[in-house]
Amino acid sequence: MNFPASFPATRMRRNRRDAWTRKLVAENTLTPGNLIWPIFLTSGENQKVPVESMPGVFRVSVDRAAEHVAEAVELGIPAVALFPYTPAEQRDEEGTGALNPENLMCRAARALKAAHPGLGLIGDVALDTYTSHGHDGVLRDDYVHNEDTVHILCQQARLMAEAGVDVVAPSDMMDGRIGSIREALDDAGLIHTRIMSYAAKYASGFYAPFRDAVGSNAALRGDKKTYQMDPANTDEALREVALDVAEGADMVMVKPGLPYLDIVWRVKKEFGLPTYAYQVSGEYSMIMAAVERGWLDHDRAMMEALMAFRRAGCNGVLSYFALSAARLLKAG
Ligand code: PBG
Repeated sequence: MNFPASFPATRMRRNRRDAWTRKLVAENTLTPGNLIWPIFLTSGENQKVPVESMPGVFRVSVDRAAEHVAEAVELGIPAVALFPYTPAEQRDEEGTGALNPENLMCRAARALKAAHPGLGLIGDVALDTYTSHGHDGVLRDDYVHNEDTVHILCQQARLMAEAGVDVVAPSDMMDGRIGSIREALDDAGLIHTRIMSYAAKYASGFYAPFRDAVGSNAALRGDKKTYQMDPANTDEALREVALDVAEGADMVMVKPGLPYLDIVWRVKKEFGLPTYAYQVSGEYSMIMAAVERGWLDHDRAMMEALMAFRRAGCNGVLSYFALSAARLLKAG
């Protein structure tokens, strides 16, 4: 770019002087259509339980799920992402709960599809919400076994798609899972089921409140560094994305969000694909904790963070702020 003019002929502040010009020169927009709202599910009836480490976030029972998302649908949020909470006593080594057609994910998918047929449902494909050791796959000699895990994930993905999940979102970071899941879906005739791959997912400390929300925190044995990415790496993220796209991913995601906007930027630039970021639990809780202490203004911090994702190239953001942000956008 060439900018020959200089001060005082050019005064950058002219365009910032009034609200209407600021609006005219705004380079990016944020609408409810850019937001995906993650929802935590719990067993029982008539439950709406606060998640302690995530102020303003709840786990809801399946019978209340439709009512819980109704306002989000009304406000134009296109999709929700579902995550089940599983207490320790219902977990096992192989995460067999993932393959139960009556699990929370499948029951919620059926209930939500019936109540809100136009709402996109995104289902998490991974075993960490079902395993006693909290890992995303099955352990063989204390190592998360790639192919054995992928074999189970394919069945899990198929099951939730049959229950009404529109987009399966593998968050496990096993190698080759996108291709295998695509094949399993196609073999079952589920050719319209989309895959949003957690393509570049980092071994992050910012997931801690989420693990509390789904009941994995106490369970997790060790860390996830043998499958999730090293926060030091960028080029590797592009290889991950390239593989997932070659295997059939329809959309790709970067996770966490704000600390990884450089990755979002590069992915969007190199591939030009539908690209999403997950503003994860720790990012949400950091803002909320500061808000509770009076150190940050909730609305300003929330909107500024969400706009940053758009500026970096995200088509959309998975955010626990989705409903609050959509409300604020509607209020204008
Ligand atoms: C695991 C999964 C995690 C999140 C989404 N799916 C946690 C992890 O990898 O340990 C984190 C989301 C968040 O922190 O908000 N399948």
